[in-house]
Formats: sequence, structure tokens, C-alpha cells
Amino acid sequence: MINIAVLGYGTVGSGVVEVVETNKKQLNKKTQQELNIKYILDLREFPGDPYEDKIVHDVDIIMNDPDVQIVCETMGGTGAAYKFTKAALEAGKSVCTSNKAMVAAHGTEMLEIAKKNNCNYMFEASVGGGIPIIRPLMTSLCHEYVEEIAGIINGTTNFMLTKMEREGADYAEVLKEAQKLGYAEQDPTADVEGHDTCRKISILASLMLGKTVNFEKVYTEGISKVTADDFAYAAAAGYTIKLLGTAKALEAAYDDEARAAGKAEVSVKVSSYMVPVNHPIALVNDVMNGVFVTGNMVGETMYYGSGAGKLPTASAVVADIAECAKHVGENIKVFWDAEEAKLADYLETETAFFVRTSADAADAVFEQFPDAMNIIVDGRNDAAFILPVMKEKDFVAFAEKLGDKLLGRLRIYA
Ligand code: HSE
Repeated sequence: MINIAVLGYGTVGSGVVEVVETNKKQLNKKTQQELNIKYILDLREFPGDPYEDKIVHDVDIIMNDPDVQIVCETMGGTGAAYKFTKAALEAGKSVCTSNKAMVAAHGTEMLEIAKKNNCNYMFEASVGGGIPIIRPLMTSLCHEYVEEIAGIINGTTNFMLTKMEREGADYAEVLKEAQKLGYAEQDPTADVEGHDTCRKISILASLMLGKTVNFEKVYTEGISKVTADDFAYAAAAGYTIKLLGTAKALEAAYDDEARAAGKAEVSVKVSSYMVPVNHPIALVNDVMNGVFVTGNMVGETMYYGSGAGKLPTASAVVADIAECAKHVGENIKVFWDAEEAKLADYLETETAFFVRTSADAADAVFEQFPDAMNIIVDGRNDAAFILPVMKEKDFVAFAEKLGDKLLGRLRIYA
């Protein structure tokens, strides 16, 4: 028998218990093991809960029980979660987690401890909720030179943007709804300001390169400045608006000489983008997530599914439980070193822009960018343009020149 302890009986933790119990026959059959939830750690009591008898309040009961082989860390944060994950791995217990903050900040440290103790640290649920994306990057695509990853990897903001687009819904109201549905972070600024996407794309970019992309150095913007006006122009020009995390491998990612010459290895960004409506990623709506991965041999691939919520996220944690159950006492190699990847200075990277300006700014726009495309929407008293590809720093200079005539701007994903 393989015993499991779940740390944190919140949305995801209770989902893990539900998935294991509901699908136990299938899980046991596929792993050829008998899996059992032995403990649930939480500070709270759960009177009347069907698994009330498994609740413990003292983590040492779990750490000191040699019969617990797998621990699910579904607590979130990097405080107690860090301590407990480390203790479990040091005790030779595999840890499966949905905690992207932990993975982004301490992933390589935990992988190293797992390796030393012949167990595993697994984090499929940390990116894209229920979508298998971590394992495909580590296995099916491991031989590829991955050129680019672009993903809608925050369910809350995608849910919000979809509602704003379809229903003209109010920003604050849709955020409340996302919170009620269990999609949003405890502090939803992590969702709307892009920090959650930043951690997730940094994890994916790290796996892409096999090095650490320091999420604290990633240029990050969220959706809080996206307005109904932007959506009106986006629709007229054949675009939708999505929050994307993007990671582009640069020459030095896979070229030793370029790396030795000090060139940047990867460009990583989080931003709201206008996305052409015929791009597959534009079809990812509501709480769904989608990750677009381009490899040098395989070409374009895409991974789609529920990006947040109790059961989809729990399902991904349970996928890791199954993997750990099949490899008790054996460490599965993960190619992700602590060494930091060199990030491109975002100001030197290039992108095309959409700008919304006051109506009297047209001359200034065309003077600087004769090829700018004017988007016409009848009955409006502002103006909008698609500007050609330029360096971010050049756009910053132009924005300064426009001053308060610049009403809004978005990057364009192509
Ligand atoms: N708040 C996150 C989201 C939860 O909305 O995607 C899943 O990581």
C-alpha cells in the first residue's frame, strides 16, 4: 500500500482527496498499487466532513510516519509550505504540488533534495491547472530545441477578459465571480497584475532551457489597464485581447559560443496582448488555459484545458501522485539547473504596438510612423493605430512624446 498525506485542505487539497477517492479503482489499476489517503493536515476542524477522521494538526505525525511515501503540498505560499516540503523530501517522501510560488522560487533546491533522497518533487499542477504541460516539456519534447512558449496560463484573468469582451462586463464584478468560483489567488492582484502568469512562464521557460529563469527579473504587466475601448478597437481590427506569458529562446539559448560571448539566452515577458482572432490561442476562452509550444523539429504544438479550479488542478496533482507511486524509491531525472539563464533586456526586444490616442494625435502618429494603420470605429471621439514592430525602448520614447494624448496601449502578438 502507498500512503498519501495531503497538506492543506483548501480548494485544491480537498480536490485531491476527491479525485483520489472518486477514481481510486482506475488509479490503483493504472499504477498497479493500492493508494490510500492516510492524513490530511490542516489547522481547522472539519466536523461532518467524510474524511474528518484523517485530519491531523501536527505535521510531525506525517513526517515521522515511515508508511507515508507521498505528500501533496496544496497549502500555497513559501512559508510553512517550504519547511514542510523540505522536511518531507529529506525524509525520502515524494512531494507533489500545485504551488507555483514554491516551484518558481525554490524548484531547483527541492529537486536537488529529492535527488539526494531518492524521491521526487513533482509540480504538474503548478502551471496550466489540469493541462498536462510540465510532463510534455520534460519528456515528449525533451529532445527538441524549443524556440518559443506562449501561454494563457492564468484562468482568472482569461475568465475576466472573456466576460469583458463578450458581455462588456464590469472589471470588479467579474473578478468577484472568479473569486467565488475558486479561480483567483488569495490576493487577486497576483492574477490581475500578471504575477501569477510571471511565475508560471518562468517555470516553463526554465524547463525549456534547463536553467533557472528568475521570475523576479521578468518584465510583467497585467490586465488592469485593459478597457472596453481597447476591446472595441481590437474587434474592429480582427483581434482579441489576452494576457500572455511568452518565452522566446535567443541564439545563446542553444549556442555555447554566443553564451560565452555574454549574449542573452531568452526573452521572457508577461503582458496583455492583442492576438489575431485566427490564432489558436485566441480561441482559449473563459477559465481555460492554452500553451503554445514551438519546437525546432516538431513545429507548433498546443496544450489546452481548465487552467484553474478545484478538480482540474487536483487532477494534475493526482497525475503526479500516480507517477510517484510508480517510482517509489527512485528519482526521476529533471533537467533544470539552479544556474540562472541570462534574460534579454526587455527594452531591447522588439514588438508591434496598438495605441489608443486622443483624436488630435493622428498627425504625431503618422509623422513618426508613416506605415501606422488607423483603426476606424464609427462614432468614437478617440483614435487608434497599429504601429509597426519596434524596440520597446523606442516605443517608450514615443509614448513620452505623446504624453497625455496616449490613452492606452497594448502589445501585439504575432
Ligand atoms: N489563480 C490561478 C489562476 C489559479 O487563475 O490561474 C491556478 O493557478
